[in-house]
Amino acid sequence: MPEGPGTGPDRELLTMTRAPIPPPVPEPRRRRYLLCPPTHFAVDYAINPWMDPGRPVDGAAAERQWRRLCAVLRGLGHEVATVDPLPGLPDMVFTANGATVVDGRVLVARFKHAERAGEAAAHRRWFAGAGFRPVHTASLVNEGEGDLLVAGRRILAGSGFRTTAPAHREAQRLLGLPVVTLQLVDPRFYHLDTALAVLGDDQIMYWPPAFSAASRRLLATLYPDAVRGAAADAAVFGLNAVCDGRHVVLPRAATGLAAQVHARGYRPVPVEMPELLKAGGGPKCCTLELRGA
Ligand code: ARG
Repeated sequence: MPEGPGTGPDRELLTMTRAPIPPPVPEPRRRRYLLCPPTHFAVDYAINPWMDPGRPVDGAAAERQWRRLCAVLRGLGHEVATVDPLPGLPDMVFTANGATVVDGRVLVARFKHAERAGEAAAHRRWFAGAGFRPVHTASLVNEGEGDLLVAGRRILAGSGFRTTAPAHREAQRLLGLPVVTLQLVDPRFYHLDTALAVLGDDQIMYWPPAFSAASRRLLATLYPDAVRGAAADAAVFGLNAVCDGRHVVLPRAATGLAAQVHARGYRPVPVEMPELLKAGGGPKCCTLELRGA
C-alpha cells in the first residue's frame, strides 16, 4: 500500500506534531542532601497509622532500598551526606524530620513524640560539626522538612498532627521566609510531605483531600496550575517525592503521578521503599535538603 498522508510514518509524524508539547521545566539544580542509614530501623512503636509493631520488618531489605535511594540521588548529580544512626532511634532514617535548612540557617526539630526526641540532639551536633551557622533549635513542636517545605521564597507548612501553627511562626522568624500554614486533616497523611511535594519554586503536586477546605482553597489560589494527585497515588505515598527541579524521585507504585509529572515535562525516577513505608516513610522522608551550605 502506498504511503501518503494519513498512513505510515507521515501519520506518526502528524500525531507527534499534534501531541501537546510539555511546558519547559527549569534546569535541575545540584542539591546537597542529608540521609541516615537505616542501621537501627525498626517499627517498635506506633505513632502514625502506617506503623504496626507486630508486623516484621526486613532490615536487610530496608538497607538495600535506602542504598538504592542514595545511588539514585548521587546518579542525578547530587551530593549525599550522612549522619550517623544511633541505636534506640529506629526512625532516625527519616532525616527530613531532623531540621529545616534555608540559606545555611538551620532550625533543628523538636519532636512531638518522646520516642523520637533524641534525634534532635543528633542533628544539632551534626549541623554544628558541619559548620552551619546559626543552628537554632525549635522551642515548639516542629518536625522539620516533614512539615516545612521550602517553595521558592516561601515555606509551605503543615499542621494538625505534628508541627503546630505557633511553631510555623517561630520558623518564619528564625528562617526568614514567609510561612503559609496548611491544615492537614487525614491521619494517614500526618506530615505535609506525605501529601504535598514541591516541584519548583512556583510549582507543587498534592493530594487535596489531605487538607482542610480552607487550605484547599488557599492552595488552589497560590498554585492554580498544580499537579493534583489521585487517591490511589496518595495511598502508596506517591506525594512523598524529592524533586531537583526536573527529576521527581517517587515511589514506583505511584504510576499515575509519574505520568502526570511526565506530561508536565518532568522526569519521574521511580524507587521502591516498601520496608520504610511500614513506618510511614518514603523517599522524601529519608531526604533532608541542605540549602545554601
Ligand atoms: N515513623 C515516623 C514518624 O511517624 C515516620 C516519619 C516520616 N517522615 C516524614 N518526613 N514524613 O514520625
